[in-house]
Amino acid sequence: MIKPHGSDKLNPLYVMDEKERANLAKEAEKLPSIVVCSAAAANAVMLGAGYFNPLTGYMNVADSMSVAKDMKTTKGLFWPVPIVNVAKDVSAIKGAKKIALRDPNVQGNPILAIQEVEAIEEIKPDQMKFMTQAIFRTEDPKHPGVKAFTSVGNFAISGPIKVLSYSYFEKEFPETFRTAYQIREQMGKLGWNKVVAFQTRNPMHRAHEELCRMAYNDLKADGILIHMLLGKLKEGDIPADVRDACIRKMVELYFKPNTVLITGYGFDMLYAGPREAVLHAVFRQNTGCTHLIVGRDHAGVGDYYGPFDAQKIFEEIPKGALLIDTYMADNTAWSKKLGRVVMMRDAPDHTKDDFIMLSGTKVREMLGNGQAPPPEFSRPEVAKILIEYYQAIDKKK
Ligand code: ADX
Repeated sequence: MIKPHGSDKLNPLYVMDEKERANLAKEAEKLPSIVVCSAAAANAVMLGAGYFNPLTGYMNVADSMSVAKDMKTTKGLFWPVPIVNVAKDVSAIKGAKKIALRDPNVQGNPILAIQEVEAIEEIKPDQMKFMTQAIFRTEDPKHPGVKAFTSVGNFAISGPIKVLSYSYFEKEFPETFRTAYQIREQMGKLGWNKVVAFQTRNPMHRAHEELCRMAYNDLKADGILIHMLLGKLKEGDIPADVRDACIRKMVELYFKPNTVLITGYGFDMLYAGPREAVLHAVFRQNTGCTHLIVGRDHAGVGDYYGPFDAQKIFEEIPKGALLIDTYMADNTAWSKKLGRVVMMRDAPDHTKDDFIMLSGTKVREMLGNGQAPPPEFSRPEVAKILIEYYQAIDKKK
């Protein structure tokens, strides 16, 4: 299995020892505290789970700016996206050396982590502008990631953290939420060395399914890690429990037993396209995966990124910055001529009409009307779950 990013051993920031965790939780109740924003909470969960190895906590402004500009911290660690705890109001913690971070996503705002406060710095408007442009390649407030990033405040609270909880993820997704060290452990037990990771925030349609199969076969991999996002998404995206059910059904019916691990991670989607793709690679390396599938418009939204920008960015990364490799996939769809799903680059004699392609809007419309997309696009068993979901929400309206 490959080494984690930036260190020989994974160093998750979750306090594993139960007694120590209980003691820290008690201590934390007496500390000044703030309810953090959802992105900062998700960062804590990722740091706790070992996904953001070797970071030890939240970045300060100098590191965030350096990461935004050059994809490396001031100390030279390769890192693609600032990992920050940004807040609007820091009056409750001014002068404190240690603070408790409260969870915005769980009722009662229980304590999520303890942070040592190294600095509280104001992020200047020009710095915010610079970072937004560098991470998202746009400052359009309609971009869901930009909106989230620029609306949480101007104060960066930096310093190391100890994580005491995995927020709502363990409880809501007991079968699916897995930490990076749990994944390493499980892959070790299975004897998997070459493993291809599949990032997803969607129910898996035929193109997704076949991409996984193609990568597995082409790479002669030992296994596939389906690794779905379990955190927050933009409005209109499909909730994690529904996606999880679709994926489980698809794997059960259409994959060889013992070739796929179905897992998820607790992070809010950034929709940052290329930069997020690199972050995806970093944290899949931390799970021990040797490859990450990067296809069309990876982690994209709307028309903010070119369809293959998230592949191109990997050419700009310094050699050796990451140990994980990418499996670059071309646009993938069902070929009517060949009667199977293919990558378009492998079917140079085809025209657009030779493929079955449906827009997201069209698929949503069909499912909402109780109509399954063609089986060449979606497995009928997956379509059934999605139809039930859309009909239930349409009834609520
Ligand atoms: S993402 O935001 O998590 O990237 P999604 O779950 O739809 O969205 O995609 C998961 C992965 O499959 C990404 O690497 C994406 O580029 C790839 N992908 C999805 N659909 C296609 C397709 N039709 N052709 C090629 N790659 C695709």
